Amino acid sequence: MKRAYNFNAGPSALPLPVLQRAQEELLNFQNTGMSVMELSHRSKEYDEVHNKAKQLLRKLMNIPDTHDILFLQGGASLQFSMVPMNLLHEGKVANYVLTGAWSEKALKEAKKIGETHVAASSKEANYTHIPALEHIQLSERTAYLHITSNNTIFGTQWHEFPDLPVDLIADMSSDILSREVDVKKFALIYAGAQKNLGPSGVTVVIIRKDLLENIPDHLPTMLNYNTYSSSNSLYNTPPTFAIYMLSLVLEWVDEQGGISIIEKRNKEKADILYRCIDESKGFYSPHAEKGSRSFMNVTFTLPNDELTKTFLAEAKERGFVGLAGHRSVGGCRASIYNAVPLEACEALADFMREFQQRFI
Ligand SMILES: Cc1ncc(COP(=O)(O)O)c(C=O)c1O
Repeated sequence: MKRAYNFNAGPSALPLPVLQRAQEELLNFQNTGMSVMELSHRSKEYDEVHNKAKQLLRKLMNIPDTHDILFLQGGASLQFSMVPMNLLHEGKVANYVLTGAWSEKALKEAKKIGETHVAASSKEANYTHIPALEHIQLSERTAYLHITSNNTIFGTQWHEFPDLPVDLIADMSSDILSREVDVKKFALIYAGAQKNLGPSGVTVVIIRKDLLENIPDHLPTMLNYNTYSSSNSLYNTPPTFAIYMLSLVLEWVDEQGGISIIEKRNKEKADILYRCIDESKGFYSPHAEKGSRSFMNVTFTLPNDELTKTFLAEAKERGFVGLAGHRSVGGCRASIYNAVPLEACEALADFMREFQQRFI
């Protein structure tokens, strides 16, 4: 069986051993005679899956007891609305740092809920970098500061987080679990699962517990974080199969030696591609400035659209999947999440060098 070199931006590559385990267990999960998909979400067997996913995430990310872990649906996009609905209180101002299309979308939803302020932005520079920490200007009456830790579309990433006396909220959809992060520094972290955590369908929210005390009662039940916190995310039917897959991915990360090992590998992978770009003498041109480069999404362009098209077509023939840049940006993007093996990055770099030889 030939597996693709999968550089999709999300949904994206999953670890092969995880897929194989899911396949093995698909028809008969732990001798129940049923698939996980067919189990009651109130059964003992599912409860173990659910709690194991939570426990492993807590262990791997070193999530302190001050923070709760919630499983929701609606993707990271619903969090764009839920964050301000739950945490932007009357008379306060939600602060956003704009670093790309996803932070713009998050801001757009917050504006529908209450007062907002752009604390910093790199929009003028076509989102080629993360604003310097000293350029962040908070408003008065700050409710929270929202950042997008990794910008999936533009290929930039925060390598240092703001240390300000304000509740920090991060959309970590495209780099959660890819590097060590001090969770204590964050009031809330959210991430759609479909990059580093598992398949789409479940959204992880890590929230500091004291924030739960001030959430307005009038919110619709399913849009209130307290509903999930007080029911162990089992108020209604959770996305059971997605959570099962999450638990398998987390076990895989644990078996690899945890996030520190994964982070080291991710840096090596990114380095292989950035080195190839840097050594191409401008044939491949990186979108992100050096200090803001993402270890998850490597974005670059070729000298013209014609060459980009040929590059993408040839890459596809060689089994490299998902290299077209986002439709809003164009060019190319290699998404190299946790499950993308180092060999895939080496093979891509070899192909890029060989392609360049033929076209210069
Ligand atoms: C950084 C970031 N935020 C939010 C989203 C939207 O996520 P979802 O499709 O789960 O709503 C994405 C999707 O790619 C993303 O990369």
